[in-house]
Amino acid sequence: MSVALREFFLLRPDVVFLNHGSFGACPRPVFEAYQRWQRELEGQPVEFLGRRFPGLMAEARRALAEYVGADPDDLVYVSNATMGINIAARSLPLAPGDEVLSTDQEYGAAERTWRFLCERRGARFIQAEIPVPAASHEHVTDTLWAQVSPRTRVLFISHVTSPSALILPVVELVRRARAAGIISVIDGAHAVGQIPLNLDTLGADARAGLLALGAGPALSPDGPAWYAQMVSVPLPLSDGEGAQRRLREDFAIEVPIVAWRQMQLLRVSVQGYNTKSDIEALFAATARILEARAQGSPTAPRRVSGPRAESSCHGVLRCDCPRARRHGQRRRRASGRPRAARDRVRPPSPRA
Ligand SMILES: Cc1ncc(COP(=O)(O)O)c(C=O)c1O
Repeated sequence: MSVALREFFLLRPDVVFLNHGSFGACPRPVFEAYQRWQRELEGQPVEFLGRRFPGLMAEARRALAEYVGADPDDLVYVSNATMGINIAARSLPLAPGDEVLSTDQEYGAAERTWRFLCERRGARFIQAEIPVPAASHEHVTDTLWAQVSPRTRVLFISHVTSPSALILPVVELVRRARAAGIISVIDGAHAVGQIPLNLDTLGADARAGLLALGAGPALSPDGPAWYAQMVSVPLPLSDGEGAQRRLREDFAIEVPIVAWRQMQLLRVSVQGYNTKSDIEALFAATARILEARAQGSPTAPRRVSGPRAESSCHGVLRCDCPRARRHGQRRRRASGRPRAARDRVRPPSPRA
């Protein structure tokens, strides 16, 4: 992504922000527009909420409908995805013995909503285990579909899963559900803007680079059918929380490590404000942490200087650990650059 895009965000320059999936930063023009609307509301609340609001919302629905390819009258604005899922789930007439079929890759708040509702109504919440590493979308579809029974009333799945960041085959699953008279509810929290508007490849860079570091096995085949701007890579360590803290405190990198099944998944989500150097800083910091763990030390070496993680990236090029050497060799081969230029330590830059 271009450095110019970075200027459209208010993010602090001293942090490498790679967790758009949890709490994304708002682009400056959007931030300014919503502040303008808030001021307008506060200027004449009755005029705004009592008289103008329905017209303004209709206009906003029309704009969104055009973007997502829907009928404006089929769209409702909600505060967040969790609220939308709750509205859909609680409006369904679930009866005792009914089944809600889902996966074991759903977002916690959504999973709890369904569990709570099913308990109250005497229904069953079934979480099919999606095989990982996933072999093919057909295999995922068939595995999930094998759990459909005559009591299945609802299919609840994420378009892009939260822990593993995988794109699930929702089109085929919804098609099958409709044909079988099953209501499908899709958690599209990460989908809008990523699918099909997969405009960048940084997510792919992150995954390829981390796998090349020997971080862990891939969760799916490689390619845009499985992931877009968000990828998860298993790390060979048990203390994900500690490693996440090290990334934040020692390298100023904000990125989650999610415990899922028996794995610690480094989940990287990128936005327009991210650059290749952010991803390189992540490779370098992760390599140092893994190396420190492999040597039995709970902590990575402290960052020596510089406000941003580029300094840690330079640090790892000087680091003599085998993993860093392998990583450096791969990057050199990939870039085709001569060694002398490649290994030169650049001065820390304010923001790449
Ligand atoms: C798959 C998924 N669904 C739902 C949510 C919750 O989104 P919100 O905070 O908008 O309710 C998240 C949050 O990261 C998520 O990953």
